[in-house]
Amino acid sequence: MGIQNIQIAPSLLAADFARLQEEIQTVEAGGANLLHIDVMDGRFVPNISMGVVVVEAVRRVTKLPLDVHLMIVEPERYVQAFAAAGANMISVHYEASPNLHRTLQMIGDAGARVGLALNPHTSAEMAREVIDLVDYVNVMTVNPGFGGQQFLPTMLPKMARLLAMSNEQGRQIDIEVDGGITEETIVAAVEAGANIIVAGTVIFQHPHGAAAGVAALRTRLQLEMD
Ligand code: DX5
Ligand code: ZN
Repeated sequence: MGIQNIQIAPSLLAADFARLQEEIQTVEAGGANLLHIDVMDGRFVPNISMGVVVVEAVRRVTKLPLDVHLMIVEPERYVQAFAAAGANMISVHYEASPNLHRTLQMIGDAGARVGLALNPHTSAEMAREVIDLVDYVNVMTVNPGFGGQQFLPTMLPKMARLLAMSNEQGRQIDIEVDGGITEETIVAAVEAGANIIVAGTVIFQHPHGAAAGVAALRTRLQLEMD
């Protein structure tokens, strides 16, 4: 896949929430392709972040597609609400939804792109029976719950396995990578098959600002992969 097809998705978890509109406009102007919004419930993960009202507010200030990552138990209870709030893409965790097949169908029925997120301990194999319903798999390269953690390179082989699985059915899914992305790890992730790159800390904590953070990731890909 050419690097022009790589999508950079800043994760708002690392933004300054007191200046959220400004942060969003900065990454949008800097060339971000999507906005990644991490929803945490203090149950599925040990942290609490943002919910439906924040997605609604973000929707009002950007035209970028909103990629909502639900790190919550029983996500099926909230799929409708997040879609109505303006989510264009919704991912749910394999580990969080007891009737996952139905939940994935609900996301599609609600008009959003269908995402499946896999924790580090969850094998690619677990996606096999639902891969036909999925538009993208979020391969977590950290344990979900916090920004700023270290990238787990042992997750990289999962990406090719997932792509092979969907190719067998004549389909092509997107592979999203989430957690610990830096100017170094982005290259390994793209080489392994990822084409949607979630990045929080490296973008919003960039010493020259968040637009420079987006640009630095793109520049690194151009240098290493062209
Ligand atoms: C972690 C979240 C990530 C997080 C990534 O639970 O799913 O999206 O914001 O942050 P960084 O890029 O700092 O690892
Ligand atoms: Zn995320």
